[in-house]
Amino acid sequence: MIRGRKVNPICEITSYLCASEYIQSPSIHPDMKVTVIGAGAVGATCADNIARAGVCTHLVLLDIKEGLAEGKAQDMQQTAALLGFDTTITGSTNDYSKTADSDVVVITSGIPRKPGMTREELIGTNAGIVKTVCESVLKYSPNTIIIVISNPMDTMTYLALKSTGLPKNRIIGMGGTLDSSRFKYQLSQHLGCSASDLNAIVIGGHGDTTMIPLISKATWNSIPVTQFLSQEQQDKIVADTMVGGATLTKLIGTSAWYAPGAAGAALVSSILRDEKKLFTCCVALDGEYGLHDICLGVPVVIGKGGWEKILPLELNAAEQEAFAKSAAAVRSMNEVLG
Ligand code: LAC
Repeated sequence: MIRGRKVNPICEITSYLCASEYIQSPSIHPDMKVTVIGAGAVGATCADNIARAGVCTHLVLLDIKEGLAEGKAQDMQQTAALLGFDTTITGSTNDYSKTADSDVVVITSGIPRKPGMTREELIGTNAGIVKTVCESVLKYSPNTIIIVISNPMDTMTYLALKSTGLPKNRIIGMGGTLDSSRFKYQLSQHLGCSASDLNAIVIGGHGDTTMIPLISKATWNSIPVTQFLSQEQQDKIVADTMVGGATLTKLIGTSAWYAPGAAGAALVSSILRDEKKLFTCCVALDGEYGLHDICLGVPVVIGKGGWEKILPLELNAAEQEAFAKSAAAVRSMNEVLG
């Protein structure tokens, strides 16, 4: 169902004037269907971003709570006239038949963390939910690509891979995409620059102590950021990035949603538009980075095939050590599943 990009020729010529039409035009990608499971803050924000981007014709929002997804879908649909998109948004209370033939399914189901909680503490509740959701999704969309946002994200991605038996390229954990965006935010605050001028990634797990912001490789439009930052500043940026989610949970009283939702939507766009963008995602490693039988955050190319390629990184000794520690922590969390 994924089709080639059909560019509106008028927009090509006057791209400045119709930039919003260019972004939002649903005519660019007909016949695409996306489902977001979970209509909580992350799921609804993700769906909202997907609708605004105009990357699919049909968007389904599903939740177990009676009426929640229908209500949020209708509210979102009522922004169409204001924002200029034509995506049809359907809400569903746990009726997976409405999600049939989705090209991409984003799973946000499960409980979010409360202040003071780690993502890992959610495993007992969320593992059962994610497993059931995966089974129901596959019943109606056997060819879909699955994006996992639910926490603990690395273990939930591994669970989705194992329980569905889908080809590994079709299971993508979102964590590193979000963490890399938070890393760029922290860097931009210290450098006084545009976050979108930065090239910076976070690899490893999506946990407060397992993520690895690679500051040695971060650049400001190709100039190493380390040239502009003291060691003290670098250490602070890395530390603040690692607790980025926890900091927000403390401030808000529950897990964050704007950046997590936008990160999920960015992955959906790269798949449906076959953009081949580079993101850090949690994917199944099969010898890459010297690891097997684990899902962990590494740089990948995201396109119509899901994650299409893992890119190698030359890590220094400290980064290699941190990566090995991160893998060990994620592996022991995966063992809890058994
Ligand atoms: C966060 C959650 C989504 O980091 O894991 O905000």
